[in-house]
Amino acid sequence: MSRAVAVAHPNIALAKYWGKRARPGNFPAVPSLSVTLDGMSTRTEVRFDDALRRDELILGGEAGSPGDTARVRALLDRVRSAGGEKRFARVASSNDFPTGGGLASSASGFAALAVAAVAAARLDFSEARVSDLARRGSASAARSVFGGFVELLAGAETGSEDDVLAARGVAGPDELDVRVLACIVTEQAKTESSRAGMQITSDKSPYYATWLERAPRQFDEMKRALLARDLARVGELTEASALAMHACAMAAGVFYARGVTLGLWRRVGELRNAGARAWATADAGPHVKVIVATADAPRVKRELEAHEGVLRVIESRPGGGARVLEVS
Ligand code: PMV
Repeated sequence: MSRAVAVAHPNIALAKYWGKRARPGNFPAVPSLSVTLDGMSTRTEVRFDDALRRDELILGGEAGSPGDTARVRALLDRVRSAGGEKRFARVASSNDFPTGGGLASSASGFAALAVAAVAAARLDFSEARVSDLARRGSASAARSVFGGFVELLAGAETGSEDDVLAARGVAGPDELDVRVLACIVTEQAKTESSRAGMQITSDKSPYYATWLERAPRQFDEMKRALLARDLARVGELTEASALAMHACAMAAGVFYARGVTLGLWRRVGELRNAGARAWATADAGPHVKVIVATADAPRVKRELEAHEGVLRVIESRPGGGARVLEVS
């Protein structure tokens, strides 16, 4: 038997990825830039064991769905084919935040899985190779392998399924003096996965071509603003990217926002008009995440906690990358 335990944090995209290349291998169609969040974690144990007759997945103490188990098995197969390990594995993973509800649990989940599986199989992979492995499970997971501010470029339009595409650190966690406030509005999993939502968007949205054309420019601008430490510009671009993504999806009938999402979004605008340096974003779920200057975080957090429909607010600093906790 050989086992490893790893921890990874979710990340939130400031410049969003939405849409995949039309080729196998889970390559994103646009570049994205994220910040890794220290306030939420996924802990994953991978145990390769002779006694197992198939790969097993336990998520939050319960058997994983057939779909989740198949995605985990695909990642384990790549680890096994890289050499050495032939046994099946038992994967046990848990999150200290709501799972599958647009809080990037797939990002931290596949990052922790990739790190733990590579360590348990005793493979000597570079961080880039681990990031590429994680991307195959969930593209945003490639970014959670790294800490601080992280980019993932778009995949080429054509090429081999085995082409490597890894995320890369752009700046350390201290580049911007910010906090991220995740407003939890439900403990339930979302109904539409990001994978399905992206597919419907690219098939049906009248604005998808515009999104593909604009997102790379917004990404370039975001990166420049970040490296210039221009928080106001990073904030404006963060809102613009999320609004464009949601509008593009919504035009195809893919809704992640609920009433409370829109109410919170407006509230963040009001707080900003009243002088707070705070900007909203949202992913494939109803929760709103707020990027806020550290000095303004306590009062903005109090306001968000008091907003109707908010169950709680999880505060994060820009955090570190995925890491191995134990190997045996
Ligand atoms: O990595 P996926 O397939 O879960 O997609 C993530 C999509 C967004 O979270 C909405 C945007 C992003 O860049 O993280």
